[in-house]
Amino acid sequence: MTIVNFIENFKKKKRVLFTTPSHGQGDFVNPASLKLLGHKFFTCDYSEIEGFDNLSNPIGIIRTSQVEAARIYGAKSTFFLTNGSTSGIIASMFALLNRCDKVLIARNCHKSVYNGLVLTGAVPLWLMPQYNKEWGIYETISLDLLEETLARNKDIKAFIMTNPSYEGVMSDVYRISSVCKKYNVKLIVDEAHGALWTYHKALGTPALMQGADIVVQSLHKTAGALNPAALLHIGLDSDIEPKNIQKALNLITTTSPSYPLLVNIESTINYLSSQSGQTKLQELVKNVNRTIRFLKSIPNLEVYSYNNDVTKILVKVTNMSGFELSDILFDEYNIEDELANEKSVMFLTGLGTTKSKLKKLEKALFDLCAKNIKIKPNEERENPVINIEPRVRYTPALLWGKPSREVESKYALARVSMELIADYPPGIPILLPGEVIKKEHIEYLKDRQKIKVLM
Ligand SMILES: Cc1ncc(COP(=O)(O)O)c(C=O)c1O
Repeated sequence: MTIVNFIENFKKKKRVLFTTPSHGQGDFVNPASLKLLGHKFFTCDYSEIEGFDNLSNPIGIIRTSQVEAARIYGAKSTFFLTNGSTSGIIASMFALLNRCDKVLIARNCHKSVYNGLVLTGAVPLWLMPQYNKEWGIYETISLDLLEETLARNKDIKAFIMTNPSYEGVMSDVYRISSVCKKYNVKLIVDEAHGALWTYHKALGTPALMQGADIVVQSLHKTAGALNPAALLHIGLDSDIEPKNIQKALNLITTTSPSYPLLVNIESTINYLSSQSGQTKLQELVKNVNRTIRFLKSIPNLEVYSYNNDVTKILVKVTNMSGFELSDILFDEYNIEDELANEKSVMFLTGLGTTKSKLKKLEKALFDLCAKNIKIKPNEERENPVINIEPRVRYTPALLWGKPSREVESKYALARVSMELIADYPPGIPILLPGEVIKKEHIEYLKDRQKIKVLM
């Protein structure tokens, strides 16, 4: 029986519950919540009572649903995450890394990897992905650099990479996983933005099909699920024990998982693998491709074309920084993008991206480019820090809780940072606690008066 069927049947039993949650499946909902959220949502909100399963030790409906999900994704095991990819990333690190173990991390990682470093006490080595100056984005992982780094550091236990990048750029995970296997290094792929790939060939090849040991995906990002629905998979051929992942997840996951979220996770997977889901996805790909073709025909506008995944539309406009383009779209056209940098702007699409939303975007960009607003030539704008190698003086775990003090930014040069500085989105760290502050950081942080350094 599925989680959805179980809850439907259970509701009919009208059992008298003296359990949490205390709203009593909607017998009480405060007026503001009722107005905004409605009543129905509350009627599905149960605790793990008699007959229900237990997310921290599933043996019933959750287990059945997770096993079915693993079959669909081609995984050895799949875990439903009600705390986002963030929890999947941290749990993967807990499962694979002990205090002082070395872990190689691609620098375009999400900041949850930093949280994992604090909690596990693992020692980070950073691998810089290739950087595209024209677009202000990280691109792929260099295989040569990866191999060189692993050959020089035979004690690395795991490699954590983000694929696709926030902007949809894909690395060759198949070859990366082969290199990792050669050096006996576990590969964790943060596929937060690739949750639709299993369901449409034209988007990207899932890391599960390319030899990754662990893959984490956010169903809420592109697959139309609620925030923060996510999945963690173990690769089919990986020797990672599911019980070790469960143990790690239990360390950081609530003991009151949201059943509406579990319903939403299960039904998202079932919908995407159904005929209607497939049709919906085809429609999305067709509509976005049509928009991309249109955008490519606009003078003064360029569309990034090295990301095959159409769920990310990356554009730049001549004589305008990404930030300025983003501001104009927001202020004058009521359009909000997912992400902007010095050079470009990214629009995220997903199952909820309708044709009419895409039309509004097309019209706005056409109109804006026709006005030919001149701000400053793009060449003058750089993000000076995104591409500089971090110098790690102390590990994040070692510095946790250590005293810090604020100094004026201009006096912070060569001091050890006690701050995690990351623009959000994308949440990629610019500076982490324990890293030495360079002159490029100070330039980048010029709008800030002060910065926290190690005492
Ligand atoms: C690449 C990447 N990984 C992980 C995460 C965290 O995902 P979640 O919000 O599901 O916890 C994000 C969120 O922005 C992300 O962009």
